Amino acid sequence: MPPRSRLPAGHEHLAQILFAQGFGARRECEGLILHGLVQVKGEVVDDPDAVFPEDRLELVVDGMPWVTHVKALIVLNKPAGYECSLKPGAWPGVHNLLPVPLRRRGLQPVGRLDQDTTGLLLMTDDGPLLHKLTSPKHHVPKVYEVTCKYPVTPAMCEKLLKGVVLDDDPMPVKADAAEAVGEGETCHLRLTLLQGKYHQVKRMVAAVSNRVEGLHRSQIGRLILSDELASGQWRWLEDPKLVLP
Ligand code: URA
Repeated sequence: MPPRSRLPAGHEHLAQILFAQGFGARRECEGLILHGLVQVKGEVVDDPDAVFPEDRLELVVDGMPWVTHVKALIVLNKPAGYECSLKPGAWPGVHNLLPVPLRRRGLQPVGRLDQDTTGLLLMTDDGPLLHKLTSPKHHVPKVYEVTCKYPVTPAMCEKLLKGVVLDDDPMPVKADAAEAVGEGETCHLRLTLLQGKYHQVKRMVAAVSNRVEGLHRSQIGRLILSDELASGQWRWLEDPKLVLP
């Protein structure tokens, strides 16, 4: 067995690959392999020290198809009733919606959605990418579909575009929308924001004397949440450039 230091770049022992993907402690991963429960590209491999490329390797682990991702970046269609906090309180955490290997890898939400907000949430275990995606220097547009209590008037949209003062805080701050589009004079508002302040949509809508009754994030950067991803489901995001400026 070649020691890890002599492995070709980007290659690893199978047991180590499973461990890094979140399939359990090293011993558990070795056990899965020794018991014939791991397939690589459709073939059972029962040698924990067999060497494979560690990224984008097609596995089936104890019946679960899995394509390895050295760094995970996922899109989750968040349902209402889940918290983004790592230590959730009254509501279950969004981590509960992920399969066990991703839960073990400790993915972090990229920014937060409120418990009652639905839609597009990114999660990653890639520290530098998380930093880039959450940096206030990066202005990635985020689109929210807002159901308001009262009809959305052109005057409200104008004020949101010009900027409103969020004065429900000891330190009032100004916030503006990059786009604010009402649908006739219905209660629907599409709001595009470049910042991500605490409860920003709800507070901006309150500042124009309306009230958020439903909030759904439909887009981040060039990534649009498609109908193919049902509420509560996740998928890999292979191209982080879609959500970078
Ligand atoms: N703005 C809010 O008020 N809530 C969210 O969940 C996201 C943006």
